[in-house]
Amino acid sequence: MGASIREVVPTPRFRRIGAHTHIKGLGLDENGRAVKIKDGMVGQERAREAAGLIVKMIKEGKWAGKLIVLAGPPGTGKTAIAVAIARELGMNVPFIAMSASEVYSSEVKKTEVLLEAMRKCIGVEIHEMREVYEGEVVKFNVITGPHPYNPYQRVIERAALTLKTTDDERTLEVGEEIAAQLVEQGVREGYVIQIDAETGRATVLGISSESDLAKKYEVGRRVRVPRPKGKVRKEKEFVYHMTLADLDRMVARRRSGGILSLFFGGPEEKEIGPEVIAEVDRQVKEWVDQGKAFLHPGVLFIDDAHMLDIETFAFLGRAVESELSPIIILATNRGFARIRGTDVEAPLGFPADLLDRAVIIGTETYDAESIREILKIRATEEDIKLSDGALNKLTEIGARRSLRYAVQLLSIAAENARSRGANEVDAADVDRVDHLFMDVTEAVEHLKKYESLMIRH
Ligand SMILES: Nc1ncnc2c1ncn2[C@@H]1O[C@H](COP(=O)(O)OP(=O)(O)OP(=O)(O)O)[C@@H](O)[C@H]1O
Ligand SMILES: [Mg+2]
Repeated sequence: MGASIREVVPTPRFRRIGAHTHIKGLGLDENGRAVKIKDGMVGQERAREAAGLIVKMIKEGKWAGKLIVLAGPPGTGKTAIAVAIARELGMNVPFIAMSASEVYSSEVKKTEVLLEAMRKCIGVEIHEMREVYEGEVVKFNVITGPHPYNPYQRVIERAALTLKTTDDERTLEVGEEIAAQLVEQGVREGYVIQIDAETGRATVLGISSESDLAKKYEVGRRVRVPRPKGKVRKEKEFVYHMTLADLDRMVARRRSGGILSLFFGGPEEKEIGPEVIAEVDRQVKEWVDQGKAFLHPGVLFIDDAHMLDIETFAFLGRAVESELSPIIILATNRGFARIRGTDVEAPLGFPADLLDRAVIIGTETYDAESIREILKIRATEEDIKLSDGALNKLTEIGARRSLRYAVQLLSIAAENARSRGANEVDAADVDRVDHLFMDVTEAVEHLKKYESLMIRH
């Protein structure tokens, strides 16, 4: 059998989260201990080390059927830690971040939104061995014949082509369908192509850098590739990175409409119902058993999770126990709250049986020193120069109000400095924007003052 080649088809990355671009990881040393300032992270050592242990277990495939809850006051880095967990898990582990409020849309059932998000978080790495012909085209003759209905026109009938590798050379006769694909893709001598032995799908891989074509012409659009090694006909391994949600969509599309939809049109995409999901799950499990697919459970992060209601909590509780479940992280800043959809007051606003299945990571408020360091990191990240006075002011505001507010104020103060033509933010810029905007406490007092004058619902 010829050489086997691995080809990796990359998946697009997930969306970036603006306020957390400075977070590069959890900032732990090789023993899993938090370094005070590392990877964009400052302080919050206990939570970071706890998160580090979880990352380790996820990577070793030992984390299943458990929820992670991040609990702490506003602006204490819960979202930041979730982002750091994602960075630590790396590129091939899907990470989806959503806010609990996204679950409530008018068109789609809330459990369906959650189910789809969960299926986007399960990566499926599919390996496929296929027989292919691969080589540099050294001879290519297209044979044409008269058109069956129009004798003045000629059509492609078949083609003869010779493929060459560093060790082998083979001449193939291909039928009309493959010949047409080759002509359409502009194949000529010097191209490196690949033809699937079973389906006949032809793909241009590039222009052979050993060919005359590569020397003679400035061929801008096609990449240059080395002349393939090994046999012309060989087994090649293809690796695709997909998610369960991708497979759901593919199966739903295949089912929708059928052949008649070609003539009469059909639904663009059928709803992804339970049958589609069951079919995908069955297929994926079969591939896993046969060693053709590997699962990469990713992370679903639900921010402001106290906004979920009893029904969605019940759904999540069941879901984490199923075989194909991602790792679920919930974040909340509520201490004691009513569980939405009930009259029950509960810790964190979560049902007790859900908390039973969870490990809780707490985040704590920052001291002034940490706030100052975080602001410095954010300033570097946003390319903002801060005077000492401005940094002192922002630190003081962060400690008195919230870190989140100070981080936001930092960007606005920079805009203020820019608008007066300065390239450094000074204390007066911070003062001005602090005076123009309100934080929550201030806004509440403001509204109270005017309550009698404002519209009530
Ligand atoms: N330990 C930290 N190291 C570096 N940056 C941090 C740290 N904690 C928080 N930040 C940054 O401070 C800002 C506020 O933190 P974050 O949004 O994570 O808070 P939160 O706990 O999720 O708040 P909320 O409850 O309001 O959602 C963000 O820009 C975040 O990246
Ligand atoms: Mg948050």
